[in-house]
Amino acid sequence: MDKLIIEGNVPLNGDVVISGAKNAALPIMAAALLTASPCHIDNIPGLRDIDTMVNLLKGMGGVITANKNGLTIDTNNLSSMEAPYEMVKTMRASVLVLGPLIARWGKAAVSLPGGCAIGARPIDLHLNGLKKMGAKIELKGGYVYAFAKRLKGCHLYLDMITVTGTENLMMAATLAKGQTIIENAAKEPEVPDLANMLNSMGAKISGAGTNIITINGVDELKSTSYAVMPDRIEAATYIAAAAMTKGSVNIIESPLHEMEGILHKFKEAGTSINIDKNRLCIAPSPFIINTNIKTLPYPGFPTDMQAQFMAMMCLAKGTSIITESIFENRFMHISELKRMGADIEVRGNTAIVKGVERLSGAPVMATDLRASASLVLAGLAAEGTTSISRVYHLDRGYERMEKK
Ligand code: EPZ
Repeated sequence: MDKLIIEGNVPLNGDVVISGAKNAALPIMAAALLTASPCHIDNIPGLRDIDTMVNLLKGMGGVITANKNGLTIDTNNLSSMEAPYEMVKTMRASVLVLGPLIARWGKAAVSLPGGCAIGARPIDLHLNGLKKMGAKIELKGGYVYAFAKRLKGCHLYLDMITVTGTENLMMAATLAKGQTIIENAAKEPEVPDLANMLNSMGAKISGAGTNIITINGVDELKSTSYAVMPDRIEAATYIAAAAMTKGSVNIIESPLHEMEGILHKFKEAGTSINIDKNRLCIAPSPFIINTNIKTLPYPGFPTDMQAQFMAMMCLAKGTSIITESIFENRFMHISELKRMGADIEVRGNTAIVKGVERLSGAPVMATDLRASASLVLAGLAAEGTTSISRVYHLDRGYERMEKK
């Protein structure tokens, strides 16, 4: 899909079912590289990034078969341990094959991801951790070449909180000799989801979801059947859509426990949210209250919701201060929102959003995944027609958004 045309200012009403979480499914699919037996993974979302990971694993010789709403991944006979540049440049999360390949095959050639729209996105913490575990790492021609007879468990301290860094090192440690402790580990819910899947394969991981994860290495991992957790960012995006269009929406299958911080902020913004078993029921509220956010590692407000929440604050009564502390360039949606009449001033990594009465539809351009979601939300609330180009970004992380 390359362009979305949205007739705005129409309340959204009805039910929407949340898909499996992209950022849990991707490491979980890579984890299938850790065992010779096939892994059955369910609740996999239909996304471009998932297709990229499937093609990456197939390119290595993995055999992947689709079943109902999941995949069976068999990496028993790999023909290559390479994640080529063409793949990695389209999806940074391809680096998640690095840890599993070194752990099980003792070698890997993974293209450096390079930057992307939202920042430099280095992987130095991934590489330093693997080196400490005994891997020999060489950087040549834009590729990481890694070798290890057998990784050795050790005490790792991550200088920065990194989600995929934590996941890569946790996966590598499952087959290392001895115990690995990862300190300052990421606590994002997708990390324990991956740990639960690895433990169901026979790994010995404790502490996932806290900032200290302990992994006791084993000699081999076995087959498993595992269902991916629901996507908290997709769910939160639909809360914003309902709130901004003053609609009544039931969001089904949200990971409620993992969304407490996000729900707190929406309530602060005046959103009417009722929880009925596994449903989030959003009802119209008279107006949106200006609310400040600063993106932080979990359980703080997620950077992946910053652009969407900003779209909502464009219509708040009053001024909101939005600070992006995780990525250095995640304000690309602002110039497009301003084309729709938003009043936003940027000062470094802080945006000052003065609420306006109404946004007006306009032709805009998506630059990255969450920026495109933010523009869709603005278009849904705006007066008139909005056309969003380069909206293929949306397909990377939102399953059939226009249908839902
Ligand atoms: C994961 O990216 C998510 N992607 C991102 O979601 C999410 O925005 C991010 O975590 C933060 O929550 C997946 O899980 C596939 P980081 P990741 O390593 O792991 C710096 C989306 O929209 N850093 O936690 O790549 C880095 O530059 C995507 O779904 C280093 O300096 O993010 C950033 O400033 C976007 N060196 C900060 O840490 C490293 O070795 C956090 O990055 C690693 C990271």
